[in-house]
Amino acid sequence: MPMNTKKKIGILTSGGDCPGLNAIIRAVVKYAHLKDWDIFGIPRGTDGFIDVAQGKVEPESLKLQPHGYDVPGVLQGLDILQFMSGSVLGSLSRGNPAEEDVTLDIIEGYKRLELDALIAIGGDGSLDIIYDLAKKGGWNLVVIPKTIDNDVAFTERSVGFDTARNTVTQALYDLTFTAASHERIMVVQVMGRDAGHLALHSGIAGGADCILIPELCPQLTPKTIEGMCKYIAKLRCDRRKFALIVIAEGVHGLNNQKDTYIAETLANLIREYSHHLCSNGSNEYQGLDEIDTRATVLGHLQRCGVPSSFDRILATVFGIKALHLIEEERYNRLVIWQNGCVESKSLEQIMPMIKWCHQENSCPSPVDPEGFMVRTASSLGIYLGESNHD
Ligand code: F6P
Repeated sequence: MPMNTKKKIGILTSGGDCPGLNAIIRAVVKYAHLKDWDIFGIPRGTDGFIDVAQGKVEPESLKLQPHGYDVPGVLQGLDILQFMSGSVLGSLSRGNPAEEDVTLDIIEGYKRLELDALIAIGGDGSLDIIYDLAKKGGWNLVVIPKTIDNDVAFTERSVGFDTARNTVTQALYDLTFTAASHERIMVVQVMGRDAGHLALHSGIAGGADCILIPELCPQLTPKTIEGMCKYIAKLRCDRRKFALIVIAEGVHGLNNQKDTYIAETLANLIREYSHHLCSNGSNEYQGLDEIDTRATVLGHLQRCGVPSSFDRILATVFGIKALHLIEEERYNRLVIWQNGCVESKSLEQIMPMIKWCHQENSCPSPVDPEGFMVRTASSLGIYLGESNHD
């Protein structure tokens, strides 16, 4: 076992924010305090290192203390970080620091802080960037996965996904009543980048009738629209006059282009096509008459909210695991959640596959089309696109 020498550890949050980031920071600071180690909170992702390199920030001012963000009055001492969304350190989702000068400044900033290790809290997009920087700078890196998309490879869960799943599920529940009152079709656009985890999970939990995810329905096609319309007609004949449709933002439009408002596009297509089917006069489509559709884009509300208890636990377990790895001097690892346990993986081993996926523009951790979640949805009779529909 390595000796327990005093360590200086940096921590930063990179990429889009999500619930649970502050709970990770809290856990890391608490454990480090017990060990008498110093934690340096790097502001605004790797940009904080640039400020240090350029002398704009004094290293001492970055030291984090437990209860460093106290509220006043009788609640003083309340460690509120566990419950707060966002990141107290700020985050950066700007992509790769292309300019060599910037990279050199980042590496210089790390050096000036004389860090023994860095804990980077990031999603799939940040992994590549931080890994390359760490290699260039010779950093001792530990990465904690976070993202509402749940698309970080080799971990079953990332911090933030569970809370977002609850948020979307609640939104679907709420929309059910307005949909029912007006006998409308509500099309709800859910985040997730190129992955459909958030749409699939919350769609099942929220009682959706149709769920379109990029893994099963990469783009809208006339066949999919027709299939949905027929499916909705059948629901209406069966006396369910309203419907909830969940569409993941990663599903492309009819021309296979990315569509920022894919829910709006789908709502319009369903309205137009259903009216076209009705005008054909076939009895099969009578239920579609006067169909009314509305689109809702949940947007960044999915990244907000008090972290769920699972996300707080995951955040805390991941934060402590990161420090345990550093204590054991097992660096350059990704902390992961596997079979209900915390583990870690060597970045050296997993990065080639992740980088290859990024080069190919494919998601490194998509929904398994043959997996139990898809089979569950399919067995419930949820419409998942033409490939999963008889
Ligand atoms: O990766 C998290 C995420 O919220 C995605 O689901 C979404 O596509 C993207 O970030 C939005 O990014 P931005 O906040 O930069 O608009």
